[in-house]
Amino acid sequence: MKAILYEKQTAPDILVYREAEKPVPGENEVLVQIRCASVNALDYRSLRMGILPKNKIFGADISGVVAETGSSVRQFRAGDAVIADLSGCGMGGFAQYAAVPANALIHKPESVSFEDAAALPVAALTALQGLRKGGIQAGQHVLICGASGGVGTYALQLAKNFGAKVTAVCSAKHVQQTYALCAGHVIDYRQEDFTKGKERYDLILAVNGNYPLFAYKHALTPGGTAVVLGGALSQIFKTIAFGPLMSMGGKKIKMLAAKPCLADLSLLAGLAAQGLLKPVIDKRFSLSDAAEAVRYAEKGHPGGKIMITVAE
Ligand SMILES: NC(=O)c1ccc[n+]([C@@H]2O[C@H](COP(=O)([O-])OP(=O)(O)OC[C@H]3O[C@@H](n4cnc5c(N)ncnc54)[C@H](OP(=O)(O)O)[C@@H]3O)[C@@H](O)[C@H]2O)c1
Repeated sequence: MKAILYEKQTAPDILVYREAEKPVPGENEVLVQIRCASVNALDYRSLRMGILPKNKIFGADISGVVAETGSSVRQFRAGDAVIADLSGCGMGGFAQYAAVPANALIHKPESVSFEDAAALPVAALTALQGLRKGGIQAGQHVLICGASGGVGTYALQLAKNFGAKVTAVCSAKHVQQTYALCAGHVIDYRQEDFTKGKERYDLILAVNGNYPLFAYKHALTPGGTAVVLGGALSQIFKTIAFGPLMSMGGKKIKMLAAKPCLADLSLLAGLAAQGLLKPVIDKRFSLSDAAEAVRYAEKGHPGGKIMITVAE
């Protein structure tokens, strides 16, 4: 099969499109012929940190069709359309085939396209788990900082589905798109620092932005929560180190590390099937251009998800 493989000796390109061994499914695995994959920060962050996936093939989010099943697999059959989150089982999505543990797959709803399906797993799960960690409730005022990328575009829509009033923070380039995605108010972070304004928020989802933790705390209502899930690594470490201390008193600063969860993935796919969650696609690349897709993602300013079309 064709795949994008990590090859250290080919630096600076590192990710190379070439022939790779087609995986053979184990007894509890399903061989998926991949139709579409999407890029996440997880791909380039792991790449830069030298954390390599088991077969040197990155890519966590896939959709495709079951080609073969292992002898103990009962819940899937050849020909089933599926969605998988490979972030917890060794990645391998930037390829024509992946052998996926049956417990990392769900059936794709018929009304959700393969492209939309592959746009869901890591980013939508992160958005959902982040909002839940912040204890989101109907009627709250929620601010999403970093609202126009993969995670942010889902967080906006989910917060709205929860019945929250939503304020989004992104750059001028994405303001229109973000309004269209149901944000009540949009702040251009290059023009305005929301942490210095008069408005206070019940929940801040810090997808990006790297504001000082004290600034987030200042912008919260009494009893409010800021959930830090992305940004610079230093921001993540500060949240782990100081979040618990800063959460004494009414306001909370929490850190989210999203985890693969089939129940959550099914819920999100169901919302997409009902038209209540619409993946926003920024750009499409072919499998042979996946290295370019990862470089583009690493620049950090996409307007939604970056997709890799593996097969039409
Ligand atoms: N904790 C976890 O489990 C977990 C899981 C997934 C992702 N993440 C992290 O979440 C972050 C976002 O991931 P993603 O996939 O959504 O990335 P992405 O698609 O690259 O989106 C990045 C977003 O950040 C915005 N942004 C850039 N600079 C900003 C600033 N100074 N202030 C406010 N917003 C800014 C961009 O907006 P403009 O383009 O408009 O500038 C864009 O909306 C990454 O840091 C990633 O590592 C964490």
